[in-house]
Amino acid sequence: MPYFGMSRRFWAIAVLATIVSSALEPLLPALMKPLLDRGFTPGGISLWMVPAALLLLFTVRGLAGFLADVALAKVTQDGLLSLRRDMFARLLDARLSLFHEQNATALSNTVVFEVQNGATMLVNSVIGLLKDSVALLALLAYLVYLNWKLTLIVFLIVPGVVWLIRTVSTRLYRIARSTQTATNDLAYVVEENVLAARVVRLHGAQQSQAGRFAALSTALRRLGMKTAVASAAVTPLTHMLAAAALSAVICIALWQSRDGITVGTFASFITAMLMLIAPIKRLSEVASPISRGLAAVQRAMDLIEQTLPESGGSHAPGRAHGRIDIQSVTVRYRDDAPPALDRINLTMEPGQIVALVGPSGSGKTTLANLLPRFVQPNEGRVLLDGCDVADWRLDALRSQFALVSQDVVMFNDTLAANIALGRKMDPARLEACVEAANLAELVASLPGGLKTEVGHNAVTLSGGQRQRLAIARALYKDAPVLILDEATSALDTASERLVQQALQHLMEGRTTLIVAHRLSTIEHADRVVVLENGRIAEAGTHAKLLARGGLYAHLHALQFGMA
Ligand SMILES: Nc1ncnc2c1ncn2[C@@H]1O[C@H](COP(=O)(O)OP(=O)(O)O)[C@@H](O)[C@H]1O
Ligand SMILES: [Mg+2]
Repeated sequence: MPYFGMSRRFWAIAVLATIVSSALEPLLPALMKPLLDRGFTPGGISLWMVPAALLLLFTVRGLAGFLADVALAKVTQDGLLSLRRDMFARLLDARLSLFHEQNATALSNTVVFEVQNGATMLVNSVIGLLKDSVALLALLAYLVYLNWKLTLIVFLIVPGVVWLIRTVSTRLYRIARSTQTATNDLAYVVEENVLAARVVRLHGAQQSQAGRFAALSTALRRLGMKTAVASAAVTPLTHMLAAAALSAVICIALWQSRDGITVGTFASFITAMLMLIAPIKRLSEVASPISRGLAAVQRAMDLIEQTLPESGGSHAPGRAHGRIDIQSVTVRYRDDAPPALDRINLTMEPGQIVALVGPSGSGKTTLANLLPRFVQPNEGRVLLDGCDVADWRLDALRSQFALVSQDVVMFNDTLAANIALGRKMDPARLEACVEAANLAELVASLPGGLKTEVGHNAVTLSGGQRQRLAIARALYKDAPVLILDEATSALDTASERLVQQALQHLMEGRTTLIVAHRLSTIEHADRVVVLENGRIAEAGTHAKLLARGGLYAHLHALQFGMA
């Protein structure tokens, strides 16, 4: 794991401090021996030595433990920081297919929670492994030194404890994995219901949603109980094993006592023996957090390493003229379905307005998405200013397009930040864009003006206001090519007029591809292209197409003829 190996110095401190603090483990029972053997006989040891020795021991151990913890936290947090940063950077430049393959809850879980838990677990258990191995060895060495015959009995219980804990922790690991999945699913249900709050109420779907939630949370409770039972069983069972060993040791020791085992030796033997249990227990469990931590960190690494970034060329000539050539382009989303676009040819001259109409699902959005390479053709080419969009540098290419679509996406930030999105804020330009987008009145009515926070996806604004905000953003970007994908479809007639005016300002002097349901909005387009099932059914001016009496005339009649 390169992310957690970078700070060598802190690893060294952590390892060293851990070894020191664990190697001191047998000192506590070792101190008991002289205390019991000589402390209670007059003139044995002086009184001051007891607190002095104890305090010294605990100071050294405490200091080493503190250093180890801090150094370890430093290693974990540094690794976590760069891991998270890289993950988010990958989210920002990943191929867009990633967002079809994984849902938002799963991705945010991976980036936010899983790595945190995974990294902490991993680093802590690696150091725990070291700590407990050293403590175990030190204690065993001390036991052998005290009395090797009695130590043989200790070796009898060790395999028992190991087996017991292995069995339990395999079970715990399986439960933990199911818990992870169930937790993700539960978070997903909550997120869906937060987003769909109104639909759920309107359709009276509360009960079925509550049912979904209840089923998942019941499953979680069951898993939680299983975990509790399994882990609660470990301690009493190990204690039973320890008690058996203890009785054996005591019997033998009492029987041996004629051979001169002193009270002190006996007491420190028992203490050291009981102190063995904790490290053994942790050591036999250590595989599970290590594998769980590895799994979580691995998922994070996969996101970084196996998600491909979008690829681009190096063509970056500055502001484009806005000439677009779509040459025999076919787009297929799935192999078993007819293509979304089928050998489309379309040319747009700089400054031209081309309208795209056609029934829903005919491929209009797909065609619009070809231009900024949100969708890539399976066959054919898309050229901007005579250069294949695949050869453009991605940022240069995307700076040539402004997009206003039906679903407006706003960030939870100020109006100004949403309009200037990704660009430097220029007050005069902001002012002009707000004016041109018919938003001046709204901004004036807000107490904070342009500094007003818009809230989650700007839900406090009306549909028309949000749409004009999106137009202001497009104006601010001032790109040579404009894509309007049903920008006014969701609006009522009154707010549509305001938006329509704003759009007129926006289209001035730009190559514009306008997708519209309402045919009234496209009558002044230079050319109308009618799509049907991914093919161009007909193309021409509004008047020509009406006269032709084809699909366009039919769609037009549907909207106006009968009214
Ligand atoms: N991401 C996608 N994955 C699979 N199929 C898609 C995807 N996007 C669109 N489609 C399909 O491609 C066809 C054209 O869709 P679209 O371009 O959105 O049409 P329009 O905008 O004209 O309504 C539809 O049949 C749609 O189901
Ligand atoms: Mg569409």
